[in-house]
Amino acid sequence: MIIKNLTLQNFRNYERETFRFSEGINVLYGKNAQGKTNCAEAVFYLCTGASLRIRHDKQLIKIGAPCAQLSAETESKYGKVTLEAELYENRRELRVNGNKVARAVDFLGNMKSVFFSPGELRIVQDGPDERRRFLNLSISQTSKPYASALLRYNRILEQRNNLLKNKDASLILETLPVWDEQLARYAAAIVKKRREYLARLAPLAAEAHAFLTDGKESLSLGFDGEYSGGEEEIAKRLKRELEGAYERDIRLGFTTVGPHRDDIKIEIGGCDARGYASQGQTRTAALSMKLAELEIFKELTGETPILILDDVLSELDLARRKKLLSRTEGMQCILTCTHAERLLGGREIKKFKLREGKIVYES
Ligand SMILES: Nc1ncnc2c1ncn2[C@@H]1O[C@H](COP(=O)(O)OP(=O)(O)O)[C@@H](O)[C@H]1O
Ligand SMILES: [Mg+2]
Repeated sequence: MIIKNLTLQNFRNYERETFRFSEGINVLYGKNAQGKTNCAEAVFYLCTGASLRIRHDKQLIKIGAPCAQLSAETESKYGKVTLEAELYENRRELRVNGNKVARAVDFLGNMKSVFFSPGELRIVQDGPDERRRFLNLSISQTSKPYASALLRYNRILEQRNNLLKNKDASLILETLPVWDEQLARYAAAIVKKRREYLARLAPLAAEAHAFLTDGKESLSLGFDGEYSGGEEEIAKRLKRELEGAYERDIRLGFTTVGPHRDDIKIEIGGCDARGYASQGQTRTAALSMKLAELEIFKELTGETPILILDDVLSELDLARRKKLLSRTEGMQCILTCTHAERLLGGREIKKFKLREGKIVYES
């Protein structure tokens, strides 16, 4: 799967620019704050309908402009697909092949990418939110049922939490069972997918980690949520748990059980990575998870996703950089860095030099 070109209008610091990418390695380089990450972010946005850096589209619109427009021509084994996004302050319009899509779910996954940047270290270092976000964005790209279940779950969860803040206890107790029935159903679908995904991800990540560290360290990933059985069983159990937590939920004013509390356990050499791992170990673990994600995309779709590496290569030592690049054979990559020359040898690369949201040199 490749992105052939990308046009940005009033997106971040771009007024209007078109990138014509090569099928191999594309390097975006230039000084700080010129638009390298912004371009990488735009590609990711067209893959997922979301940004990795922010939660509100408004920040993506060039300051002073009414709307931002992103469009890309992509090619996969199913043919050419045009993706467009028009972002306004309070709404957006998404189009696939010129046809407006009503639901974000129908937009995401048309183009797939794996995005890695130093910010991704948060997956290992930070709280469970980041790991759930990783799971959600990754699984959603290959499973529309997951993406819709997640959307519905979050909506119901929000309504349930609003209800819990109500002062009328009898109203709460009357209404909760109605929400819980639905909540448990979507929760079970989410949990089942996450469990399956992690079962695939764990061995691939362990393998990538061993590869990157020459077998000197071991990485183990596990699902931190005790759910067994099929979807039906999980739903029943969650419903019981929700019921068992009524008193606490009402007291605290939010829902205390369910997949919005799940986590991934990450261990390096048998120790919890969070809190114990060094910066270097953290980076390697996060990178291994991303390489594993890439393998899963390949397995599930029979195509290679676009690999986006934002400011990553300069942070790796030469040996790891070489190892990482050896994994990119036959894959379209978009890399950003400050100096294009020192990066790589060997494979042919297309370079874009950026200055203030413009391509000033292309070769
Ligand atoms: N909505 C926006 N409107 C205008 N400029 C923006 C907007 N969002 C970010 N920028 C600018 O984009 C630049 C950062 O671009 P970025 O791609 O992150 O840089 P880098 O080349 O270092 O990766 C900054 O100068 C920032 O002010
Ligand atoms: Mg950057």
